Amino acid sequence: PFDWYREMRTEAPVRYDDDRQVWDVFRYDDTKRVLADTESFSSDVARADVFEFPDEDLFRPLQRSILRSDPPRHTWLRDVVDDQFQPGAIGALAPHVREIADELLDERLADGEMDVVEDLAYPLPVIVIAELLGVPADDRDRFKQWSDVLVADVSAAADPQTIIERQEETIRELRAYFEDLIKQRRAIPEDDLITHIATTDPDGHRLTDEDVLGYCILLLVAGNVTTTNLIGNAIRCFDERPELYDELAADRDVLAAAIEEVLRYRSPVQALSRVATTDVELRGETIESGDLVVTWLGSANRDESQFDDPDEFQPERRPNQHIAFGHGVHFCLGAPLARLEARISLGRLLDRAEGIQCVAEERPPVSSSFLHGVEQLPIRFESVE
Ligand code: HEM
Repeated sequence: PFDWYREMRTEAPVRYDDDRQVWDVFRYDDTKRVLADTESFSSDVARADVFEFPDEDLFRPLQRSILRSDPPRHTWLRDVVDDQFQPGAIGALAPHVREIADELLDERLADGEMDVVEDLAYPLPVIVIAELLGVPADDRDRFKQWSDVLVADVSAAADPQTIIERQEETIRELRAYFEDLIKQRRAIPEDDLITHIATTDPDGHRLTDEDVLGYCILLLVAGNVTTTNLIGNAIRCFDERPELYDELAADRDVLAAAIEEVLRYRSPVQALSRVATTDVELRGETIESGDLVVTWLGSANRDESQFDDPDEFQPERRPNQHIAFGHGVHFCLGAPLARLEARISLGRLLDRAEGIQCVAEERPPVSSSFLHGVEQLPIRFESVE
């Protein structure tokens, strides 16, 4: 999409697309402006005039989740888990995340080949979040199926109706999966996130079952696909600059900076949606109340007015004020966790394997146009053990 973004940034940085009936915003400054202004641009996209929700009751836990709420409800929901996701609390997980990464690598290293996505980038974040939430990590194949269906892009699908039906089915399954767990944790608290979310009472009132369910679904889905894509995208970027591998392996600060550049250059989340709550003028265009607005993070992160040589992958880039985790009050809750997981999993891979090379030319992209990543990424290497 990057050539298209470049053209749009110059030709039509804020434009209405008649076919999709949405506004597209391509530049860095405009994107930040939209995301910062939660009064004019709501996250509650179900309010958009173009949307018709198939079954409102069913989708309500997600519609009312933190991701889709505006202040003050958003602030209330965010307070519930904000402390748990701060860098300090997340940093304490490092030894355990390392153990998980090593176990996953143990299974493949001797072979001299693996699929970075299937064998490492996918299972790692799922295992971590499942353990934090307090659900069996063994159910991860189901989580993957559920996530894939929920992130599928209805508007770009050849057969939207089938996707909507599968999404309804998935939410029913997720509801059944979590409902009993939530009840159990309310009765007998455990030391896990579900208990925490279900029993905390910010401002003196507890979350409803539906609120807890929405949170669980979001944490299980939002964090995984995106982190999987970040780790896979990193290997794709490094594959273009194999001469960097030695330095990346030797210095964790270099690796951390390179991961920030991966986030900019191949942003796992390419686009975010908002709905205008009032008529707003943006770059001379009038966006009307009720209109849907898509901000293209993947384009903002390659805006030449913000980044020198934006279409070059420069791991040492500084400063690197990318907005791959969003901007404003919805700034990704899981950013410290995603960074930790990427640094540790890639760090351990580079410690334990050398001469890493991607082997397949064909790389099937993930099934959503809002996400950027590949479903499979086979590599070959020499194990250094
Ligand atoms: C929000 C990206 C990993 C949980 C967001 C947003 C972005 C984003 C762009 C802003 C959404 C908006 O403004 O509408 C990413 C990327 C990740 C990642 C690129 C990995 C590389 C994670 C992880 C978790 C997580 C690991 C949790 C375990 C959330 C939640 C929100 C969010 C709960 C909603 C926050 C709010 O509305 O206040 N993420 N994310 N994310 N992310 Fe992430």
